Amino acid sequence: MATINSGNKTTRSHSHHHTSFTRVHHFAALALVAATFFLTRLFDHSIAHCSNAYHYTTPDETVRSRGYANLKIYVYEKDEIDGLQLLLSGRDGKISADACVKGQWGTQVKIHRLLLQSTYRTRKKEEADLFFVPSYVKCVRMMGGLNDKEINQTYVKVLSQMPYFRLSGGRNHIFVFPSGAGAHLFKSWATYINRSIILTPEGDRTDKRDISAFNTWKDIIIPGNIDDGMTINNPRLVDPLPLSRRKYLANYLGRAQGKIGLLRLIELAKEYPDKLESPVLKFSGPEKLGKRDYFLHLRNAKFCLAPRGESSWTLRFYESFFVECVPVILSDQVELPFQDVVDYSQISIKWPSTRIGKELLDYLESISDNEIEEMIARGRRVRCLWVYDTELESCSAFSGILGELQKKVRQFHQSAETFWLHNGSLVSRDLVEFSKWKPPMPMALILW
Ligand SMILES: *[C@@H]1O[C@H](CO)[C@@H](O)[C@H](O)[C@H]1NC(C)=O
Ligand SMILES: *[C@@H]1O[C@H](CO)[C@@H](O)[C@H](O)[C@H]1NC(C)=O
Ligand SMILES: *[C@@H]1O[C@H](CO)[C@@H](O)[C@H](O)[C@H]1NC(C)=O
Repeated sequence: MATINSGNKTTRSHSHHHTSFTRVHHFAALALVAATFFLTRLFDHSIAHCSNAYHYTTPDETVRSRGYANLKIYVYEKDEIDGLQLLLSGRDGKISADACVKGQWGTQVKIHRLLLQSTYRTRKKEEADLFFVPSYVKCVRMMGGLNDKEINQTYVKVLSQMPYFRLSGGRNHIFVFPSGAGAHLFKSWATYINRSIILTPEGDRTDKRDISAFNTWKDIIIPGNIDDGMTINNPRLVDPLPLSRRKYLANYLGRAQGKIGLLRLIELAKEYPDKLESPVLKFSGPEKLGKRDYFLHLRNAKFCLAPRGESSWTLRFYESFFVECVPVILSDQVELPFQDVVDYSQISIKWPSTRIGKELLDYLESISDNEIEEMIARGRRVRCLWVYDTELESCSAFSGILGELQKKVRQFHQSAETFWLHNGSLVSRDLVEFSKWKPPMPMALILW
């Protein structure tokens, strides 16, 4: 990474040519996709050079050009590990993946499905770089399929049956936690998966918990699941309006939830009703706002305000790109996905949540339509990164995730309870060879 981001790129890249090679090639992927100036500093000699060399050794253009060609991910099968089925469909096995794929937490199902069909999937554990542990617990819990205690116990039971998890201390295992709670859905996450790779839209949940489960350096922020009607289906649920036909300067679509920032926004909308739309919307019950109506509201402003709600991430931020309003983040702790390739200052605004007031409206009003159009046009070119579509799309949420996962690949993963001998044999503390490790393994021995 340093080779790419450092100031004197050219010199460093040349001297580190060989080592930077593997780290650089995944960039070529997204570079090919969105060859635009705001997709960062990709267009460096060294990268073009490396990716050419890479093509030379791997002639399969379509796949190789994406740059994570060597990535091999093993996906645990639901019948292979006792208990895994519970995490996917609840204690009665009644919760279906199709029910869980809808709504803002659908990523837990979509990522699993994409991996199952993926050319990067391997069925051989011995050759896997990374291991994916499927689980739909957010949905299962919401639908009453498991309670917190059962979720915790089931995870521990499942992990104790995975020798490869134990071998690396979980360092090469991937989990998806699709909601604001992040990995906290698994109560004892800190004991068991604090070394694992967590995919989550949530970078911070410090309002209700003392510690954030998200770790900048090992975890991956993923985009929230936007309704397929706005991203994939054709015709779309709702098309963007020309700027001149939008009724409002800005909008905020959501409830107050007793949060200070949100209350302030609602007050502000009452004071300036012709500038800021904040309708009283019902998100449940008989008058529940339909999906289409929601997007009809959202598209009617130049700026869509995305404040912190229960937690720091907000789906509205991603949705904004599909109705083509400029998202204004009012969530100070937010963490955004794919920062290796996206420069968010070119496509959105982040404003201090402590300065929600007339000052904000005045500022937004001072931005010319021309500037707004430019931001929207740039957003249009990156928004493919928020779409969970087939792997064949060279720019998609999945390609972004694969690119990030590629960076986690290591030649070797050590753990405090794994040892190795002169001849390459991996052994436990009792000098038992890895091939003889028999589950369930004593999880308490994973001392971090
Ligand atoms: C989670 O389960 C493990 C194993 O059963 C147990 O030791 C731990 O105390 C549980 N954590 C919580 C928070 O209940
Ligand atoms: C998780 O691991 C990190 C080290 O990577 C450590 O600093 C942190 O305290 C751990 N978190 C918890 C909750 O144990
Ligand atoms: C490696 O050496 C150990 C200790 O001498 C032995 O028990 C083990 O079988 C050897 N492993 C292999 C793969 O030869």
